[in-house]
Amino acid sequence: MSALRIEHLNRSFGSLVVTDDVNLDIAPGERHVIIGPNGAGKTSLVNQIGGQLAPSSGHILVDGTDITGHSPDRISRMGVARTFQRNNLFQNLSVIENLRLALEVRLGKPLDFFRPADRNAALMTRAKELMAQVHLGSDGDRTVRNLSYGEQRQLEIGMALAGDPKILLLDEPTSGMSPAETARMIELIAGLPRSLAILMIEHDMKVVFSVADRVTVLYYGKILATGTPDEIQANARVREVYLGVRH
Ligand SMILES: Nc1ncnc2c1ncn2[C@@H]1O[C@H](COP(=O)(O)OP(=O)(O)O)[C@@H](O)[C@H]1O
Ligand SMILES: [Mg+2]
Repeated sequence: MSALRIEHLNRSFGSLVVTDDVNLDIAPGERHVIIGPNGAGKTSLVNQIGGQLAPSSGHILVDGTDITGHSPDRISRMGVARTFQRNNLFQNLSVIENLRLALEVRLGKPLDFFRPADRNAALMTRAKELMAQVHLGSDGDRTVRNLSYGEQRQLEIGMALAGDPKILLLDEPTSGMSPAETARMIELIAGLPRSLAILMIEHDMKVVFSVADRVTVLYYGKILATGTPDEIQANARVREVYLGVRH
C-alpha cells in the first residue's frame, strides 16, 4: 500500500488553477522530490497534504485512510510531519529544550504512564537521539538564537521528527543556505531512516538528483512527468519547458 496517495486533486484560487488533476503515489520509505518553476503550485500541493489548504476536489490518502479536508493537527497525528519555510523554533530556549517541547506535545499522553523522573529521563534520551539524527552534535545547551541559519533548519527537521512520522514533508529545506550548509542538509536528509517516506520540494538540481528515488515535475498545477532522476533528465518535454533546453 502507498504511504501517500493523491487522487484527482484540484485546487483553484478564483480563476487560477494551482492544482490540476494531480495523481501521485508515494511508497513507504520513498524519497520523492517535486520540482517546477516558481508559481507551479508546489507549496500549494504540500499545503493540501499537510491540511493547511483545503482541496477543491479529489482525495488524499495516508496508509489507505482518506485524510482529505482534515485539520493539520489530525493529519500530523496520522503520521504526516512537516517543516515550514518560516522558522518556528523557540529562539530563547536551548536545542534540547526545543526538542523536549516538541516531544512533550507528541508523546505527552503515552508517557504519563511513567513516574515524573522516569518520564523526564525518557524525554531526554529521545531528545538526544533526535539531536544526533539531525547532526547537531551532543551540545544541547546552545541557545537556538546562537545557532547558524543552517543549524536552525536542521533543528526544525528534528522538531518534525519528534512525532515519529511516517511521512515527512519538506518545502525547500536548503533555500537560503550556503553551499556548505546545503551539503550538510543533503547528508542529513539522505541519512534519515528508510522507514520514513520523504516528499520534498527542491530547486537545487544537485540536491534533487542526489536525494530522490523519484522526481515529479509540476508545471502550471499539472504533473508534467514523474520518474526516476534519469528518466526526468532524459524527458524531452521536461527539458524543453523546465530545464530550459531547446531542441
Ligand atoms: N492564498 C492564495 N491566494 C491566491 N493565490 C495564491 C495563494 N497561494 C498561492 N497562490 C498562487 O498560486 C500559485 C502557486 O503558488 P505556490 O503553490 O506557492 O507555487 P510554488 O510553491 O510552486 O512556487 C501562484 O501563482 C501563487 O501566487
Ligand atoms: Mg513554494
